[in-house]
Amino acid sequence: MKKIGVMTSGGDAPGMNAALRAIVRNGIYRGIEVYAFQHGFQGLINRKFSRMQRGSVADIIQRGGTILQTARCEEFKTEEGRAKAGKNLRDLGISGLIIIGGDGSFRGGELLQKEQGIEVVGVPATIDNDIGGTDFCIGFDTAVNTVIDAVNKIRDTATSHERIFVVEIMGRERGFLALYAGLAAGAESILIPERPTSLKDICEKLEHGFKRGKKHSIIMVAEGVGGDFYTNRDLRNTPAFALSEAIRDTMGHETRVIVLGHLQRGGAPSARDRILASRMGAFAVDLLCEGKSGVMTGMVHEKMVATPIKKALEQEPEINEEILQLSHILSL
Ligand code: F6P
Repeated sequence: MKKIGVMTSGGDAPGMNAALRAIVRNGIYRGIEVYAFQHGFQGLINRKFSRMQRGSVADIIQRGGTILQTARCEEFKTEEGRAKAGKNLRDLGISGLIIIGGDGSFRGGELLQKEQGIEVVGVPATIDNDIGGTDFCIGFDTAVNTVIDAVNKIRDTATSHERIFVVEIMGRERGFLALYAGLAAGAESILIPERPTSLKDICEKLEHGFKRGKKHSIIMVAEGVGGDFYTNRDLRNTPAFALSEAIRDTMGHETRVIVLGHLQRGGAPSARDRILASRMGAFAVDLLCEGKSGVMTGMVHEKMVATPIKKALEQEPEINEEILQLSHILSL
């Protein structure tokens, strides 16, 4: 393996730059030429690339986002698009490609390997933390800390006005970010898609808290949550607003809503994410040098492991029941 490509794809995540830095520097250390492609798969198709030197990744370990930019690419979803990408890589003599991204990006990488013979290694980076084959994805720890910082500020005004705040958390169809951030932030309730909860149960728990003297309540609701509180059709896509309205109508208590949105995708990566990203990026280069591909890097019980992409994508990471139960007990 003398030349490899690297790209970032899908939703950005804090730590992507740290992973890129490790890929470039470990690649050069191992005598490999590293070519970085801009704008994800579109860059492969449009031949938007630059050859990376050690200095190309200076002063980025602390930066959120991705210096390579990222984008979702409709053209790559076609076989013709993937053939263009594969030809461009072969013409450049690039036989290995490291994709830093989420599950959708890995699916594209799998097709590129199967149809075009490019040796692909995935590095999981998504704040959703919804990929099998690893305990944590790059970006998740930073997003949890971003939510905590926001909720600390919300607590001040919630207490001053003795209000209920409904905080909507990203995570697409999964509740990992809401669960971990909810425990760490000391939320009164954590609503996740994996555990449907009724409006009645939510209001009973809120009443219990106010009766024992709570001055406010914070409810974390993952954006993918459904439920019986969608009384207002217009609020169907925003669980936080629907829930806030239903609670106010049921309890007569003042409620407010915060949708944290893309705030959760930004910020300087945490130490944990910088270390995870550096380890995974360097490991991805090692795997290609050992002739291993069609796999993704993972950290399981603090150890680096390689999992076949197909197997990882078939896994449905489970919600940690102990954390879910603990967050309930500690919020009573
Ligand atoms: O996958 C990461 C994520 O932030 C999800 O949590 C969220 O639902 C989605 O991306 C938002 O996508 P976009 O950035 O395209 O609006």
